[in-house]
Parts: sequence; C-alpha cells; structure tokens
Amino acid sequence: MTLKLSVVIPTFREVRNLEAVARSIETALRDHRWAYEVIFVDDNSQDGSEALAMQLADKLPVRMIVRHGEKGLSTAVLRGISEARGEFVVVMDADLSHPAERIPDMLALLEHNKKDFVVGSRYVAGGSLDQSWTWFRLLNSKVATWLALPLTRIHDPMSGFFAFRRADMPEAHLLSPIGYKIGLELLVKGDFKKPGEVPIHFADRVHGESKLSWKEQVRYLRHLRRLYQFRFPFLAEFMQFGVVGGSGFAVDLLLYLGLQWLTGMGHVAARALSFWGAASWNWAWNRALTFSHRKKTAKLAQWSGFLFTSLLGFAINVGSYYVLTHYVPYFEAHKILALLTGVLLGFGFNFLTARLLVFIPYEAELLEEERRPRRRRR
Ligand code: GDD
Ligand code: MN
Repeated sequence: MTLKLSVVIPTFREVRNLEAVARSIETALRDHRWAYEVIFVDDNSQDGSEALAMQLADKLPVRMIVRHGEKGLSTAVLRGISEARGEFVVVMDADLSHPAERIPDMLALLEHNKKDFVVGSRYVAGGSLDQSWTWFRLLNSKVATWLALPLTRIHDPMSGFFAFRRADMPEAHLLSPIGYKIGLELLVKGDFKKPGEVPIHFADRVHGESKLSWKEQVRYLRHLRRLYQFRFPFLAEFMQFGVVGGSGFAVDLLLYLGLQWLTGMGHVAARALSFWGAASWNWAWNRALTFSHRKKTAKLAQWSGFLFTSLLGFAINVGSYYVLTHYVPYFEAHKILALLTGVLLGFGFNFLTARLLVFIPYEAELLEEERRPRRRRR
C-alpha cells in the first residue's frame, strides 16, 4: 500500500510527549483513513524514548530512528525526510506546540495544488500564541521573523510546522542546515512557487523544556547570512562590504589620532600608516565575512592585491574630488558633494575590484548550480 503521509518529528528528551503527540496525529487523521507513518528522529535521548516508541509501535504506525553521535534539530529533520515513504511530508515538534488537527487542512492545500509548501503559522489572521509568552520572548520571536521576511512571502517563516509533497524536496547537497530553521532553509532553497500558510494556535509545551538556547540564536544569524547570500548574492556582498568599510573608517581614524598621540609622529606619516592599517583590517574582515564563500587563496598575495586596489580606490576618491572642485563650477560651490562623489567612486571601484579580482569566485558552474535548485526525481 502506498503511504499518503509521513509525519517527521525530531525528538530530544521528549519521552513524556511521545505518546500524546502520536495519539493526537491518529485522532486528527482517523476520519480520513489515510495510510500514514510517524517517524521520530531521536538523538539518543537515553530517557526511555526508544523503549516507549517500540511499545507504541504495537498500536500505532510509528517508528523511531535513533541517531548516535549526531545532534541537531535540522539534520534530524532531514534524516527523517530521507527515510520517509509517504507522498506528503509533515514536519512538526513533539511537544504538542503544533496542533495535529491542522494537518488535514495543510494537506488539502497541497493535494489540490493550491499550494506547494504549507506552513502552520502563528502570525496570520486566526493564528495565535499561548498567553504565557513574556514580552521578551515575543520580541525575540518577532525580530527573528522580521529579519527573514525579505527572503520569503510567509509571515511565520520560523515555524517548525510545515508540509510539502515529498517529490518537491530539494536535493540534499543544496541544503546546509545549521541550527533550528530547517523550514526556512527549505522555503528559500527549495523551488517552491506557491508557498502558503494555515493559521495555528501555538501551545506552550507542558512537559520537558525547550532546547532553544542563545547559541541557537547566534547560529540563526549565521544561517540568515547564508540565506541572504543565496537569494541576493550581489546585494549581500555589497552590504557586508559597506559595513566592513565603515568599520575600517573608524580604524583609520583611531590609528591616525592614536599614532600621533602615542608616538608623537607627524600627521602625514600617521595618515599614511593609518591607511595601511585600515586597509589591512578591511581585507581581513572581507576575507572572513563578505567573501567567506570564495576561494581561500594565499594570504600574502591577496592582502597585497587588496592593498594595491585600495590605494587605487583612494587615489580615485581624492583625484575625483580634486578634478570636480577645480573644473566643475557646481562642485566648487558644493565641496561636500564633491567629497561624497569621490567617496562613492572610490568605494565602487574598491568593491568591484575586490569581488572580481582580489577575492576569486568559485567556478561559475558551481555558483549556477547553487542558485538553480533541482528537484529530486523519484
Ligand atoms: N533529534 C533532535 N535533536 N531533536 C531536537 C533537537 C536535537 O538536537 N533539539 C530540539 N529537538 C526537538 C524537540 O524535541 C522538539 O520536538 C522540537 O525539536 C522543537 O524543539 P523545542 O526545544 O521545543 O523548540 P522551541 O519550542 O524552542 O522552538 C520551536 O518553535 C520555534 C518557533 O517559536 C521550533 O519549532 C522551532 O523550529 C521554531 O522556530
Ligand atoms: Mn517547543
């Protein structure tokens, strides 16, 4: 018999919730008479989960995959999906936060091809949160959500409750799941044309505790950076290059003042030295951050290349200021605008040479490959 649905549930120390969540799914699907399976993916909780899952398997269509040595919510979910056999996949939490009774509505949207990825959402009309959320937790959740909004059209892209057709699962090598937000990763990297949402009430867990730590939040920021890089490769580089450049300006200023103050150095010498310091700072951060996904070429050669193009950029900056204020009457009267123009030209030059010459891209095909997610064939 072909299975209609696989419900993938990552678990870590959820022994007190396993039976309840399995039963809630059974209750929600009973009337539909669909053949389904529940796949728990447990990271060796050692709390009796495994034994309980065996026991439950006598009465309900559940099984548990226990991972040893591997940890993490996202990779657990991917493992579960890779072993799923149903036509559709639903991913949800074990702690009863996600209402199983919404699954039929999610599947209905998929089945009639109204949607191709359905998220159980707290932040659409009809959706809600448990009363007990503190303002801090709410703010946290909202900020995290806002940061992801440009990446998708979904209002609750953080949700861990979502459904899709298994044939639409992006190929595993396209996914780099760090942290918690596997749903967001699939939404951004999958080739989903019609993502949609059904409202849910998100209930607070009763048993056990959340594993969402501040470490996860930092991971989330790293994850976001990657997703922006994936979706808006040029803009992501441009913004990061700008932020690094801004911080470099502060370094420049500090060195310029500090060197004179500490060593009694003349202001021209201090200016020259501070330029090298700031440019080196920019190079290091651009290598680590802005162009972290580019080839790691030899440091010394890259550093000198970067300093050389920065020097050219600086010359363009000052040179255009000179030309504009000397030969263009308008700028003679608006020197600040001439200065800004010079800064922009120099910045543009630096950015382009950095991304085209200094930080060598990956082979073109590789980038193409990343951008064009292909669907897994069955
Ligand atoms: N296998 C495995 N390994 N499972 C894990 C791990 C892990 O390292 N960490 C957490 N889980 C399981 C939990 O057992 C639970 O079933 C589910 O993943 C969610 O974990 P919680 O610790 O309850 O997360 P949360 O309630 O803070 O976060 C949930 O809500 C967020 C939105 O507010 C998750 O659904 C998040 O994905 C979601 O963004
Ligand atoms: Mn939870």
